[in-house]
Amino acid sequence: MSGRHQQVEAAILARRERVNEALPEELPVTRPEHLYEATRYLLDAGGKRLRPTVLLLVAESLLDVEPLSENYRDFPTLDDGRADVLSAAIAIEVIQTFTLIHDDIMDDDDLRRGVPAVHKEYDLSTAILAGDTLYSKAFEFLLGTGAAPERTVEANKRLATTCTRICEGQSLDIEFEQREAVTPEEYLEMVELKTAVLYGAAASIPATLLGADEETATALYNHGLDVGRAFQIQDDLLDLTTPSEKLGKQRGSDLVENKQTLVTLHARQQGVDVANLVDTDSVEDVSEAEIDDAVARLREAGSIEYAEDRAQELVQSGKENLEVLPDNEARELLDGIANYLVEREY
Ligand code: IPE
Ligand code: IPE
Ligand code: MG
Ligand code: MG
Ligand code: MG
Repeated sequence: MSGRHQQVEAAILARRERVNEALPEELPVTRPEHLYEATRYLLDAGGKRLRPTVLLLVAESLLDVEPLSENYRDFPTLDDGRADVLSAAIAIEVIQTFTLIHDDIMDDDDLRRGVPAVHKEYDLSTAILAGDTLYSKAFEFLLGTGAAPERTVEANKRLATTCTRICEGQSLDIEFEQREAVTPEEYLEMVELKTAVLYGAAASIPATLLGADEETATALYNHGLDVGRAFQIQDDLLDLTTPSEKLGKQRGSDLVENKQTLVTLHARQQGVDVANLVDTDSVEDVSEAEIDDAVARLREAGSIEYAEDRAQELVQSGKENLEVLPDNEARELLDGIANYLVEREY
C-alpha cells in the first residue's frame, strides 16, 4: 500500500472518530426510547463516514488551516465569523443513514454495515420512522451551526434539494429494474440523483456556510457530482466482487434484484443474457458459486473493465474542480479521497 493511500485512510479515520464522538451528543436516546434506539442503531453499527470527511476537509482547505488543528464546533469562517462544521458533517451522515434504512426496505436487503438492516432488527414501521426522524433531524442540525442567517438558509436549501433529488434517483433505480435496457446516459443520470448529489452537498455546503463565493461552491458541487458517480460505479462493482462479510451487506444483491448498472448494460450490449445471469430470486438463497459464475461471464464480456474505466474518468474530471481550493494539505487529501472512492475494497 502506498504512503499516499495510508495518509488518506488516516485522514478518514481521524474525522470518522470526531463524527462518531459527536453522534451521541447530537442524537441522545430520549423518549420514546424505541424510536431513538432505532435511529442510533445503524449509525452506531459503523459506516465509513466518507461524506462527512469530505465536508470537513473542504472546510479545512477553504480556510487554509492545518488539518485537524481547529475545533470543528467553533470553526473560523472566511470573514472572521464562526460556524459549527461538525453539526453540518453530522447532518450529511444522518441523511446518508436515513437513505440506507429506506434503501434496504426497497431493495429487500437484510444486511447493512455488518448487522441486520433496521427493518429486520426492529420492524418495518420502526424502520420507516427511524429513517424519517433522521431525515428531519438533519435539517435541525444544519439550522443550528451558528452561521449567518442567509448562509444557513442557503445551506438548508442545498440539503433540501439534495433530498428531493435522492428520491427522484431512487425512483428511477426501482423503475429501471423492470426495464429491458437502459443507456449509459440514463444510468449516469440515475446515479447522479440517487448518490452523487449527496457528495455534491458534502463538498459545497461548507463553502456556503463559511462564506465562499458562488463560483467556488458550484465548482465544489460539481466535484462532488463526479466523484459521487464514480463512487456509485465502484459500489456496483463491489456488489459483484466483494464477500458479504467484508462488504457488510449481501454480495450479489444487485443481480438478484435485477438492478441496472454500467456493468450489466455493457454486458447486454455484448450479447450477454443479463436477465438470466442468476436464477435465484431471493438474496438469502443465492449461492457464492452462482455469483462467481455470473461475474466470470461479465468479466469475459469486458464489462467489469468498462465500468472501472468510466469510474476512473469521472475521478479525473472531478479532481479538476478541486483547483478552486487553496493549494494545501487538505486539498491534497481530497484529491487522494477521489482516488480512494474507486480503489476502496469495501
Ligand atoms: C452506500 O454508501 C450507499 C451508496 C450510495 C452506494 P457507503 O458505502 O458510503 O455506506 P456506509 O455509509 O459506509 O455504510
Ligand atoms: C444506494 O444505492 C443509493 C442510496 C442509498 C440513496 P444502492 O442500493 O446500490 O446502495 P447499497 O449497495 O444498498 O448500499
Ligand atoms: Mg441497496
Ligand atoms: Mg438501492
Ligand atoms: Mg449497491
